[in-house]
Amino acid sequence: MAVISTFCKKGGVGKTTFIGYFAHYYAKQGKKVLVLSVDDQNSIFKIYGAEDKIFSRNDNYLEFLMAGHAEMGDILIEVRENLYLIKTLNTDKLSMKLTLERRQEKILQTIIDEYQTFFDYIFVDFPPSSSRLTEVLLDMSDDILLVVGLDSLGLGGFFNTIQYFIDNDINLNGIKYIVPNGYSKNKRAPKISFEQLKDQAQEFTPTAEVLPPINDRSIIKNIQFEGLSVFDDEGNLTPYDKKSLETLKEELIEIFNMIDI
Ligand SMILES: Nc1ncnc2c1ncn2[C@@H]1O[C@H](COP(=O)(O)OP(=O)(O)OP(=O)(O)O)[C@@H](O)[C@H]1O
Ligand SMILES: [Mg+2]
Repeated sequence: MAVISTFCKKGGVGKTTFIGYFAHYYAKQGKKVLVLSVDDQNSIFKIYGAEDKIFSRNDNYLEFLMAGHAEMGDILIEVRENLYLIKTLNTDKLSMKLTLERRQEKILQTIIDEYQTFFDYIFVDFPPSSSRLTEVLLDMSDDILLVVGLDSLGLGGFFNTIQYFIDNDINLNGIKYIVPNGYSKNKRAPKISFEQLKDQAQEFTPTAEVLPPINDRSIIKNIQFEGLSVFDDEGNLTPYDKKSLETLKEELIEIFNMIDI
C-alpha cells in the first residue's frame, strides 16, 4: 500500500505516459491499482482510450466525494482489469477550498487512507501547474518520481521542481527516483542533457536514484493516438510493429523493476 506520484514543473515531459504504463503493468500482475488524476485535463484517460468516460457522467468527480455527494465506489472508473481511475473537475477550485478550510485537507487524507485499504497502489498523476492540491498530495506521497525531459528545456524543469519544493516546504527527500525521458542514442542533445542531469541530481537530490533513460519512441505516440496501452493484450496491438512494441515493453519493464515501491 503506497502512494506514488509522477511530478515535474514542466509540461509534456511524459509524466502521464510513465505513470499510465507503470500502473497498467502492476494491474496486469494482479495488483489492485488506482490512478488519481489531479490534472483536471484528466489526460490519463487517453492512455487507455477512455476519454469518453471523462464526460459520460458529470457526477463522479473527486469533488463529489469530498463534498459528501458520492460514495467511495461511485467515483471509481474501471478502465482495465484491476485498474481504476478517479477524475477531478477543477483543481483550482479544490485548491482554494484546501487553502481556506483545514477540514478539506483532513477529508482528502481520510479518502486516501480509505482507498489504501482497497488498493495495493495509488498512483497520482499531477499537472505541471502548482496549487494547494498539489502540495497536499505531494506531502501524502510515499514516493515521488520526478520525470525529466531530455531536451534543452528539460533540465529547466528539474530546477523549477527543486525550487518549487523548497519554496513550498515540500520534502525533497520524497523524490525517490528521477526518470529521464526522451533519450536517443543517435542525438547529441539528449545525451548531454542526461549527463548534466546526473550531475545536478547528485548535487540537489542526492538521495534520489537516477534511472536509466527512457528512449524517445514514436510507437508511444502512435498507440496513444489509438487509445491503446503498451501493456494491452497483443491481439489489440496487432497493427503495430511487433518488434518495436516488444523493445519498448522490455525497456519499460527493466526500469519498472528497478523501482522499489
Ligand atoms: N519516450 C517517449 N517517446 C515518444 N513520445 C513520448 C515519450 N514519452 C511521452 N511521449 C509523448 O509526449 C507527449 C506528452 O506526454 P505526457 O502527456 O505523458 O506528458 P505530461 O508530462 O504528462 O504532460 P502534461 O504536463 O501536459 O501533463 C504525449 O504525446 C506522449 O505520447
Ligand atoms: Mg500529464
